[in-house]
Amino acid sequence: MNLPGTVRMVEVGPRDGLQNEPQNVPAAVKVALIEKLAEAGLPAVEAGAFVSPKWVPQMADTAEVLAGLTRRSGVAYPVLVPNMQGFEAAVAARVEEIAIFGAASESFSRKNINCSIAESLARFAPVAAAAATRRIRVRGYISCVLGCPYEGEIAVAAVADVARRLLDMGCYEISLGDTIGVGTPAKAQAMVEAVATVVPRDRLAVHFHDTYGQALANILACLERGVAVVDSSVAGLGGCPYAKGASGNVASEDVRYMLGGLGIETGVDLDRLAAAGRFICEHLGRPPASKVAQALMGKAKAA
Ligand code: HMG
Ligand code: MG
Repeated sequence: MNLPGTVRMVEVGPRDGLQNEPQNVPAAVKVALIEKLAEAGLPAVEAGAFVSPKWVPQMADTAEVLAGLTRRSGVAYPVLVPNMQGFEAAVAARVEEIAIFGAASESFSRKNINCSIAESLARFAPVAAAAATRRIRVRGYISCVLGCPYEGEIAVAAVADVARRLLDMGCYEISLGDTIGVGTPAKAQAMVEAVATVVPRDRLAVHFHDTYGQALANILACLERGVAVVDSSVAGLGGCPYAKGASGNVASEDVRYMLGGLGIETGVDLDRLAAAGRFICEHLGRPPASKVAQALMGKAKAA
């Protein structure tokens, strides 16, 4: 297998995970979770989203979370920003990295951010330009790269087109989101190959949800195609409020375990990562969805 020696793990649980929780998670708990994840060695921990609180109330306290956080040097704490209003809030919160988020599916774009793909790109352009003048790094997301809850199959050309536009806007990295977790390895590879014709592979990340249990297989397939950045969510938290039935992101513990077994460096301590997962799951009152976390808990009980 042709695999990278190092993978950068981007933790999205505090945002992609908690944005979907029916119960309110206090800002102090989010702060403690983010700090535990950073202490575990994750180089990037998504800290929240400056989106409309009417659309996603779970992220309404993002400014409070950022204010409460002791930021570690060398760790990025990106936040989602859909428009200039969100950008102003991010600047006020002294954010050093933002993520703009588009889609390869017209219907999903309308459901998620209430505008067409073209309109969304027109909204992102001034955000990316303003970020550049302030030296704020911009990551770009594309949702529905392997299927859409409203449209079904999505053409890889549509993914590549949005990816190229986000790159041209100045995104340092494009995260390819299988929002509803329908992808399978060969399709994931074909999609990466299509995008790689317009975006260098070292500027791609993959973001798999695990609805059909394919996420780890898909990640491995994409690593073989030169992708070396993987998004994941501690304890497998998550889903998407605009993608009914989508389960959580692939669990960070499971990704870390697989990468460790392959001899790939991440800088992430599995035990500390799993402890962060247990912390948030105790608060949510349910066990972690991560198989690795469950296995480690079983082993600890047996010992
Ligand atoms: P809109 O209603 O079309 O916006 O929403 P608008 O500009 O007409 O404004 C309407 C109201 O929203 C106004 O308030 C604005 O002030 C307010 P009102 O006057 O009615 O009181 N507003 C805002 N408030 C706070 N922050 C803002 C903001 N902007 C407007 N930034 C909008 C458009 C994009 C704002 C809305 O649709 C929205 O917030 N959507 C959020 C969607 C979201 O967060 N989805 C989940 C994240 S994406 C995801 O999970 C996928 C990903 O993980 C990758 C994958 O898995 O595929 C990234
Ligand atoms: Mg997601």
